[in-house]
Amino acid sequence: MEKGKLIVFEGCDGSGKTTVSKEISDRLSKAGYPVIYTREPGGSEIAEEIRHIILNPKNTAMDVRTEALLYAASRRQHLVETIIPAIDQGKIVISDRYVNSSLVYQGYARKIGIEKVKTINDFAIEGYYPYRTIYLDIDPQVGLERLKDRKYLDRLDKEALAFHQLVHEGYKIVNETYKDNIEIFDASKTIPEVVEKVYNYLVKII
Ligand code: TMP
Repeated sequence: MEKGKLIVFEGCDGSGKTTVSKEISDRLSKAGYPVIYTREPGGSEIAEEIRHIILNPKNTAMDVRTEALLYAASRRQHLVETIIPAIDQGKIVISDRYVNSSLVYQGYARKIGIEKVKTINDFAIEGYYPYRTIYLDIDPQVGLERLKDRKYLDRLDKEALAFHQLVHEGYKIVNETYKDNIEIFDASKTIPEVVEKVYNYLVKII
């Protein structure tokens, strides 16, 4: 059986990434592709428990390296329990976030260093890199405006604009470093427009 493929969606908070990646998973399933949708942090029972600790707004005392290690731990568990079995069954795995989120948020925005964070993630993923990463590009200010309508904001959503600007800058650096594997889409368009563009691109490459 042909192996499956890991497709990752990345973007700043408020980029529409979750809505777009879910809609695309539904459309691909309806078109007959064997698809599973999953997300990080989380995506398996244990990984979702770790997500709860990381994003709990009460955990203001969390050290940045603890945070980086927890994301990597959650990713490892997600990979082993969810991603690898699906890939072995020939499925297309659509993951809302993966390693690049850690390189950007922990490595760049939290200033641990992209290379240091890459090291712990390389340990966690053992070479399971995405087949392709879809980056949804949005101005961080516009992204934050979109978050205002949400009822629940997690610990990271509550960060100030300066942090989200750093995240945007970090993505520019990481996207440039891994440009051969990343496709960038303008996420300031409406959700249906973005879905259409990304869907048409994905059916060509999977
Ligand atoms: P979400 O809003 O896409 O569900 O992600 C939750 C938050 O976690 C978001 O602000 C980005 C952040 N995050 C990291 O800081 N590092 C990571 O490795 C991942 C996967 C997410």
